Amino acid sequence: MRGLNGMVVAVTGSAGGIGEAVCARLIDEGATVYALDRSTSPLGESTIVDITDPEAMGQVVADIVDREGGVDGLVAAAGVVEDDIAAEEMTLDQWDRTLGVNLRGLFITNQAFGRRMLGQGAGTIVNISSMSGNHVVNVPQKQCAYNASKAAVTALTKSLASEWADRGVRVNAVSPGYVATPLLARKAHQFQQWLDATPQHRMAEPSEIAAAVAFLLSNESGYFCGSELVADGGYSLR
Ligand SMILES: NC(=O)c1ccc[n+]([C@@H]2O[C@H](COP(=O)([O-])OP(=O)(O)OC[C@H]3O[C@@H](n4cnc5c(N)ncnc54)[C@H](O)[C@@H]3O)[C@@H](O)[C@H]2O)c1
Repeated sequence: MRGLNGMVVAVTGSAGGIGEAVCARLIDEGATVYALDRSTSPLGESTIVDITDPEAMGQVVADIVDREGGVDGLVAAAGVVEDDIAAEEMTLDQWDRTLGVNLRGLFITNQAFGRRMLGQGAGTIVNISSMSGNHVVNVPQKQCAYNASKAAVTALTKSLASEWADRGVRVNAVSPGYVATPLLARKAHQFQQWLDATPQHRMAEPSEIAAAVAFLLSNESGYFCGSELVADGGYSLR
């Protein structure tokens, strides 16, 4: 498959389960991939960066443009989830930590790459949101900050899509259900409950999320604008 041949794409969260699968898929489709994470990424051109640092993110965009002459795509997959914390006991530091990465950091990333894409008059952005927050709230785990952050990511995706559509920049989201990645490693005791509640009775493979991302990056999805592809094995149908 060479559907993304010649595209220059940055992927945040590229050292994580979904991000690594996205990098693999994009490389397989012929894209040049810049892998952005606070840890070293196994695939693509790895850069260590914290997405909550606007200056650092601006510098990353400038460096990619210096090397490539522009940037065609962004996949914003970096994210965190808090451990189970009852809402009434959550400290504002804990709240800020989750919202700071999942929402503020994702906005910083979209803004830094979006500015460049608007200047070019072309570009496509795919944000990794979640079924959580928009279609369901996660149960039994207590993670109100995560759920709220993901509802906001979907709303932000739609807002940016509507603001930037007539200047050549498309913004869409993929909202996964449960995917077996390090993000969920501390929640293994809850897996069976989630599988029972999922009509397909399995978690997603990271490659299945990457396939949806590749579609939204490609010209095949040219009329998708502010859309959210939910890939959850039917979990949110209940
Ligand atoms: N795994 C799931 O079931 C699931 C379900 C729905 C949505 N998601 C979303 O998918 C995305 C990827 O999740 P994953 O399962 O691959 O998680 P993961 O924990 O495997 O990977 C997340 C990556 O983000 C990076 N990261 C975190 N904070 C960062 C920061 N400030 N700067 C730079 N990098 C940072 C981490 O280093 C890590 O490599 C997240 O946004 C997550 O919310 C995951």
